Amino acid sequence: MKTFAAVIALLPFLASPVMAQTPDIAASKSLWESNNLFCKNCHGKNGEGAMGPDLAGRGLSAAQFQQEVRKPWGVMPAFVESQLSDAEIAGLAAYFASLPKVAEPAAWRVPLTADMPAGQQAYVSQGCAQCHGATFDMPRATFGGRNTDFATMKELVYNHTTAMPKFEEQRPGSRLRMGNFNPLRLTEAQLKEIYDWAKNDLGFRPELRAELAPASGTTYAINVTNNGEPGKGLTAQGVTINVVVPAGATVTATTGDGYKGVHMDEKAKGNVAEWQVPRIAPKDTKAFTISLSQAPANPADLKGTVRWKKPGPKTGPNNDVVNFAMRPPAR
Ligand code: HEC
Ligand code: HEC
Repeated sequence: MKTFAAVIALLPFLASPVMAQTPDIAASKSLWESNNLFCKNCHGKNGEGAMGPDLAGRGLSAAQFQQEVRKPWGVMPAFVESQLSDAEIAGLAAYFASLPKVAEPAAWRVPLTADMPAGQQAYVSQGCAQCHGATFDMPRATFGGRNTDFATMKELVYNHTTAMPKFEEQRPGSRLRMGNFNPLRLTEAQLKEIYDWAKNDLGFRPELRAELAPASGTTYAINVTNNGEPGKGLTAQGVTINVVVPAGATVTATTGDGYKGVHMDEKAKGNVAEWQVPRIAPKDTKAFTISLSQAPANPADLKGTVRWKKPGPKTGPNNDVVNFAMRPPAR
């Protein structure tokens, strides 16, 4: 910040190197739209605004932009240099200054409604739902895999950029997309309410992961793994695995325990092949194969779901699901 202020002060007098580096608008646009930044979840794909204010055509300077990103005025989390550099911030400011103003903001990705329980209302109004969806699925699964306590969650939310790399290995070269939330804006009491809602009302999820890949010919392999830590992670009980049978194909053979045959499924709007297994404990993998009479027209048509009866929410049906689809062939 100090250097930045100094450069700004000198701008009228010097042809500084910063000035020579005219921001690349096209590169800034693709950075904004890329999966490296999730700002768009709150500000809209084109900066039209949603849960966060509109940015397009507002003419915010690089300094104004930088002030907000590093030291947000309100509920927005703060982002550090490794997530978005000063030069990239200047590029984004220039990109949005180049766009026309937008008349109407977009709708929130997950709207705040009066019928939500208090914990979920805190979760949605603090912005979490714009990235994590209405029911906090990914963190509930990570927490369920390790029985994560509130102290750890606090670290992951308030000191995300330092705590997250210790909590979970990052893919090399990838950036953290969540910022650091300010405890003066999102109070510890509110965060505890969110934690309790996730743990006690919805319940933590078993940390299941499913993969579908070609095995040989028109035979495909499905592996369902519980990535939880043994002794800590939740076991999924009463597990149902469904694979949608692509239009025009029939099932010629299957392998794996608990095969129940093919039936019409309302949710999938078509035929599904189904397996049921009593439990998948941490570090267990259940392997299945399905052979079809013909390959799907589009590889992405081969997809399915994993659902489980327990653990589930305190009240009502268990709507938790892990969706999977054919992995694109390795290059
Ligand atoms: C969780 C939703 C959320 C995310 C994610 C988010 N913002 Fe924001 N942003 C807001 C809100 C809400 C405000 C209004 C001020 C505040 O609450 O701090 C804001 C304000 C701003 C402003 C100031 C706008 C003005 O009118 O002065 C800028 C610039 C900005 N955000 C840029 C970004 C960038 C860049 C990113 C990604 C690195 C980002 N935001 C991510 C919600 C978000
Ligand atoms: C801008 C999108 C975004 C917002 C807003 C956001 N998160 Fe995240 N969160 C992520 C992503 C993406 C990760 C994975 C690590 C990363 O890339 O930063 C993550 C990781 C986490 C983790 C670590 C556990 C895990 O499953 O990886 C917790 C806990 C978490 N978020 C809680 C919250 C809470 C609570 C809020 C609201 C106060 C929130 N997040 C708001 C995107 C977001």
